[in-house]
Amino acid sequence: MASNHYKTLNEHYPWTANPTVVLAPMRMISTPPLATEVSRAGGFGFLGVGTDVSTFSPMLKEASSILESSLPTSEGVLPIGVGFICWGVDLSVAISVFESAPLKPAAAWLFAPREPKDLISWTEGIRKATNSRTKIWIQVGTVTMALDVVKSCNPDVLVIQGADAGGHGLAQSSSIISLLPECGDALAKEGFGHIPLIAAGGIIDGRGVSAALTLGASAVCMGTRFLAAPETPISNGYKNAVVKASDGGVTTARTTVYDKIRGTIGWPATYNARGVLNQSFWDHGKGMSEEENKRLYEEEMKKGDAGWSDQGRMTTYAGTGVGLVRNTQPAGEIVKEVMRDAKERLKTVGNMF
Ligand SMILES: Cc1cc2nc3c(=O)[nH]c(=O)nc-3n(C[C@H](O)[C@H](O)[C@H](O)COP(=O)(O)O)c2cc1C
Repeated sequence: MASNHYKTLNEHYPWTANPTVVLAPMRMISTPPLATEVSRAGGFGFLGVGTDVSTFSPMLKEASSILESSLPTSEGVLPIGVGFICWGVDLSVAISVFESAPLKPAAAWLFAPREPKDLISWTEGIRKATNSRTKIWIQVGTVTMALDVVKSCNPDVLVIQGADAGGHGLAQSSSIISLLPECGDALAKEGFGHIPLIAAGGIIDGRGVSAALTLGASAVCMGTRFLAAPETPISNGYKNAVVKASDGGVTTARTTVYDKIRGTIGWPATYNARGVLNQSFWDHGKGMSEEENKRLYEEEMKKGDAGWSDQGRMTTYAGTGVGLVRNTQPAGEIVKEVMRDAKERLKTVGNMF
């Protein structure tokens, strides 16, 4: 069963506790103060380089200086990962940072290549530049993608992202409740059952974590849950909108509207992003032109936190689990609470029958 692979994870990432909670590499959000808190608490913090490779070296330096050698790793490895949105990054620049980094990130998270084959150059390039000290994690969203990626890249870890996930993902996918076990079965059948699977999308607390482990995940990834943490560098308006939102199945949607008005364009056509519904979304639905919607968004930006009011237009990327994020809580506490709660729930369920 895939969930036994948590031992492989603990071997490769010896500072992690079980069940391991992974901080998603959210672009401009998963910065060193947040990611290092997650790793310090026994989770796995990822830095979100996203599409801006110029942030890679400074973030790595900052994370190194925060962590120094405080957590156990193999020699020359930093207990932190780094995530790339591949279509937007010049691989050769990323590789040169990997080569020159005195401490290599423990893992590289690859997401959304322009073409699936690009992941081969990413995987080979990073393995060569770091002498395989940086492990390769690839985030996928369908069974077909999972199979293609393991055959072409042989990654160390696969992140299985379901449709409930906040932020960008495939426009068409299912929730992890069916996606994860189907991926697990398909991979095992083709001889790839040794690859640990990480569940992502809609996991907010110990209940979600225990469910994901039962589905066959070896660990879980959370993005939305960390949005309201004090270490998260987003505005209070955004944090309040996350805490306030509920019933995410109807108050969030997957859409390209927010990318268009914000100018974050260039994503492969198969991707969109999940966010809380707001005035920009509704106006788009009523037929407002993209130009006018963008103009109103830019006006709204001047309002600061008030731009996230009920009639606001500022984007709140978040997953369907947003209604379970009910307060601001330090990232390290989140990790410890979620791990503890998941273990208790698994024990309770184990004693039921
Ligand atoms: C605000 C936000 C930004 C995100 N940015 C990225 C990103 O830059 N790169 C990436 O690989 N995934 C990104 N994701 C998706 C995560 O990798 C992950 O799949 C997702 O957060 C899991 O679902 P959850 O939000 O329900 O926890 C983002 C998610 C959120 C909520």
